[in-house]
Amino acid sequence: MRAVIAFCVAVLPLVIGITWNPPDNITDFSLYQIYPRSYKDSDGDGIGDLRGIIQRLDHLTESNVDAVWLSPIYRSPMVDFGYDISNFTEIDPIFGTLKDFEDLVKAAHDRNLSLILDFVPNHTSDQHEWFQKSLQGISPYDNYYVWHPGRMENGTRKPPNNWVSVMGGSAWEWRDERQAYYLHQFVKQEPDLNYSSPNVRREMEDVLRFWLDKGVDGFRIDAMKYLYEDQRFLDEPLSGLTDDPNSYDYTLKIYTTDQQQTYDILPTWRQILDKYKQPKYIFIEAYTNTSSTMKYYHYGADFPFNFDLITNLTRNSTAADIQHIVDSWFENMPEGGTPNWVLGNHDRSRLISRIGETRAGALIMCLLLLPGVSVTYYGEEIGMTDEYISWEDTQDPQGCLAGKANYQSKSRDPQRTPFQWNNSVSAGEFPTRYNFHTAETVFGPIAQLLRNKFSEKANFLLAETTNQIENGFSSNPHTWLPINKNYKTYNLAAEKKDKNSYYTLYEKLSNLKKSKHNRKWAKVVTKVLDEYVFAIARETSPKYGNVYAITNFGDKASKVDLSSVFDDVPRKLNVYYASTVSKVLPW
Ligand code: NOJ
Ligand code: MG
Repeated sequence: MRAVIAFCVAVLPLVIGITWNPPDNITDFSLYQIYPRSYKDSDGDGIGDLRGIIQRLDHLTESNVDAVWLSPIYRSPMVDFGYDISNFTEIDPIFGTLKDFEDLVKAAHDRNLSLILDFVPNHTSDQHEWFQKSLQGISPYDNYYVWHPGRMENGTRKPPNNWVSVMGGSAWEWRDERQAYYLHQFVKQEPDLNYSSPNVRREMEDVLRFWLDKGVDGFRIDAMKYLYEDQRFLDEPLSGLTDDPNSYDYTLKIYTTDQQQTYDILPTWRQILDKYKQPKYIFIEAYTNTSSTMKYYHYGADFPFNFDLITNLTRNSTAADIQHIVDSWFENMPEGGTPNWVLGNHDRSRLISRIGETRAGALIMCLLLLPGVSVTYYGEEIGMTDEYISWEDTQDPQGCLAGKANYQSKSRDPQRTPFQWNNSVSAGEFPTRYNFHTAETVFGPIAQLLRNKFSEKANFLLAETTNQIENGFSSNPHTWLPINKNYKTYNLAAEKKDKNSYYTLYEKLSNLKKSKHNRKWAKVVTKVLDEYVFAIARETSPKYGNVYAITNFGDKASKVDLSSVFDDVPRKLNVYYASTVSKVLPW
């Protein structure tokens, strides 16, 4: 019999938890999000790229990843770091070429890894050819975007209504060329596409087909809830939360998000994907209320991301709160749906920085032992934390727009720093005995000479130097965002050697998630064992054994009795534990 236990101890009040019976064919895999600028730089410009990802696919297979989602890699002026797309079917030169992409698809598939692209249907870059032509009123592009002449107030022209952009300020921007305002729900360089135009719908379907024909296995759909807006362009009601008309919280989003037409378009995309022989996935990004989120299951998504463990959990949440978060997904998800669990992404503060180290380990245990799809944001597996980024180094438009006084609460740069591979160049520093310039400028050109003519020792030095460069994030000491200062302690190479490291915990749990019998787990039972101890049991037939995940979210050791809350707990269990407390109670 197997069991996974964090801490064990005395029995306290017991809250009835859910019992969930997964369907026989449950989709159960591990999805990993790569933010391509920050995963691995292969060409020394300090920015991650596609060749870098190819070089580091082994890390994904070693970490039991089944599918990789890449944040956008398309041609982009990079105002919003790739979410502002100026050509949907070209790769941005920063990331490489279409050939690099094709090589990546092949390399991933050779390793049985599925490749998921970010599909950004809500908006384009203002540099996109469509927008440039729309500005000039050239048909049929003239109505590819949402244009409005605005309204006159005491002789002055004003935006059509009080709609606010997610990044703050009016969602409308005036353009003299068109003598009209255009809608942008995000930054003004990201004009919203007009989905009431059949041409726009057709163009975006072609984009899906283009990448599917290249072999991709599906899409994460960006900002889905913003797709359609109510065409009456009425003011949204005030929320009462703030008096600041420039704050996104100023209004209730009844006309700009979650519109019925947004759901109606999804089956048309599903149909396109289903024409391909291999199964294709659709994952939806929509931070919205429970019923609007769950609706995506009914309209053809494999799943809408479950952000509840990000948005509803705090440093003070009790075990009952956590149980409520977990159970409510099962309760609200339609029958036969695939549950999924997300702890972080490029828009949110990193897990450890958000909720603290002790809780982060316990949540990783929930992430990997709950059934369905686990979503890991790059670096989460080694416990990367947010890094302080100065105003001068700030890149994220959301941070820049907030201004020097407020940027820290808005900027998403802290969670986007380069992956910490080891403690060498730019996942750190170059070892002092090998000067960086020597390695690049002298060793490079004369490498062959060294190999052929010089002593064994020189060869050895060369090999070691090259290896050091290759193993870090970049050979460039200046990376697009600074490397987190904690790289010397928290890096993959060091953590692989340390059996108590964060990565070791992640790897062990992901092994368990992947193991054959776990995919057949029959039912899931959640229990609260004391104020901060939350338990998940995955019970199956005697042939496979049960798994119990006992997670302590508190800062004190606690005694729990499993057999008082779960039926038929075997007398003998294999126990694995992970702890941030030095002394773990004897079992
Ligand atoms: C959601 C993405 O995750 C975020 O990074 C981006 O800024 C907006 N959508 C706009 O595309
Ligand atoms: Mg690069």
